[in-house]
Amino acid sequence: MAKMWAGRTAGETAALADELNSSIGVDGRMYAQDIKGSAAHARMLSKQGIISEEEKDQIITGLEGILKDLSSGALAIDQTAEDIHMFVEAELTKRIGDAGKKVHTARSRNDQVALDDRMYLKDSVDELCAFTEKLIQTIADIAERESSVIMPGYTHLQRAQPILFSHQILAYAFMFERDIDRMKDCKKRMNVSPIGSCALAGTTYDTDRDFEAELLGFDKPCLNSIDGVSDRDFVVELLADLSILQMHLSRFAEELVLWSSWEFRFIELSDAYTTGSSIMPQKKNSDMAELIRGKTGRVYGDLITMLTVLKGLPLAYNKDMQEDKEAVFDAVDTVKLCLQVMEPMLAGMKVHADRMLRAAGEGFINATDLADYLTRKGMPFRDSYKITGSIVNYCINNGLILENVPLEKYREYSTLIDKDVYEAIDLMTCVKSRISKGGTSPESVSEQIKYLIERA
Ligand code: ARG
Repeated sequence: MAKMWAGRTAGETAALADELNSSIGVDGRMYAQDIKGSAAHARMLSKQGIISEEEKDQIITGLEGILKDLSSGALAIDQTAEDIHMFVEAELTKRIGDAGKKVHTARSRNDQVALDDRMYLKDSVDELCAFTEKLIQTIADIAERESSVIMPGYTHLQRAQPILFSHQILAYAFMFERDIDRMKDCKKRMNVSPIGSCALAGTTYDTDRDFEAELLGFDKPCLNSIDGVSDRDFVVELLADLSILQMHLSRFAEELVLWSSWEFRFIELSDAYTTGSSIMPQKKNSDMAELIRGKTGRVYGDLITMLTVLKGLPLAYNKDMQEDKEAVFDAVDTVKLCLQVMEPMLAGMKVHADRMLRAAGEGFINATDLADYLTRKGMPFRDSYKITGSIVNYCINNGLILENVPLEKYREYSTLIDKDVYEAIDLMTCVKSRISKGGTSPESVSEQIKYLIERA
């Protein structure tokens, strides 16, 4: 097929070269951004007297028709076109004739693709933030609904101290809040328009880049045309943000997998988000949570892809950069899907408060509270710590828990211990007395929930 860029060359490209060169299968999804960009470009060209008012109107009407037909399915993207920019321009010229050939005045595909990338990813950030926000609100709702559930808090995956279940899941909500902040911050830098940079050096035409940037909703045009067409740092930045977000999802997913195992049985995921086994009839597998965890690898891979593509590229545009879209679209799609599955999966999970409480009662997780009790009675903390350790040992050797140790036995270890010790080591007391800001007390948890709900 004759190429639109066949200026100097006359020979045909090899079929496999076309296959390697083609990006339409990936960048076709940017058609709306490409068309919007071209319409704004035509408006700018006409305002500057570079094309006539009539040509501008023809171009815009033509572009609107293409957008409508692509959206409705009346027009299919020609997969033999090299990329979406070529396809839209060819279709436009097919529809309106010579005026269509003028839309590429004072523009290059180099600034055009950078523009489309930025426009598409700005929209993606908005969507990703909305899904993440929905997840935060769902976590806050669950935290409110399950506000009295006590579970063991872990360090090293060993039972450590009693906490509210709400406190544990709210920790993720704060991580997701930072993920939103990061993406919004990334969008600020994305929001600078490269269009008008042209191939790399700017143009001889009297263009108005500020006007065009404003028409397209950008804060400003970039100040260096080479930078405008050469960098994809905004892609890398979004991929890094998505990697962190997916890492958070993955850790949460890992807890869901653990908690829904028969060993823990803290929660039960709904049938809508689990699968059975083709051979073992008793199984209820947490495949969706596992996949959210597993998909993290590909998101990290996308980040590494992009860092590697850019490393060592001389300025300005190089075709290597076409690889940006496959990587970033894959990450955007993956994270979007995982967010959309995670939210209803959490909303529908059953919380087994009894199992969590039982687990909390089995691991001496109130030992710190016993040590704190002794310290409050006047013993230096290091001594309280040691004595409590000996009491725990005694319990282990005699099949007891701290709640069942008789008072006389306690007093063999320290006469500072009185019958109020039982109240002090009661799990609910332990939780309630963690009153420090950000601690696991019910007041602190309500404060967290209130903050998260109000931020929405
Ligand atoms: N399809 C190309 C890309 O995604 C568009 C830019 C092509 N520019 C060029 N000089 N060949 O990067």
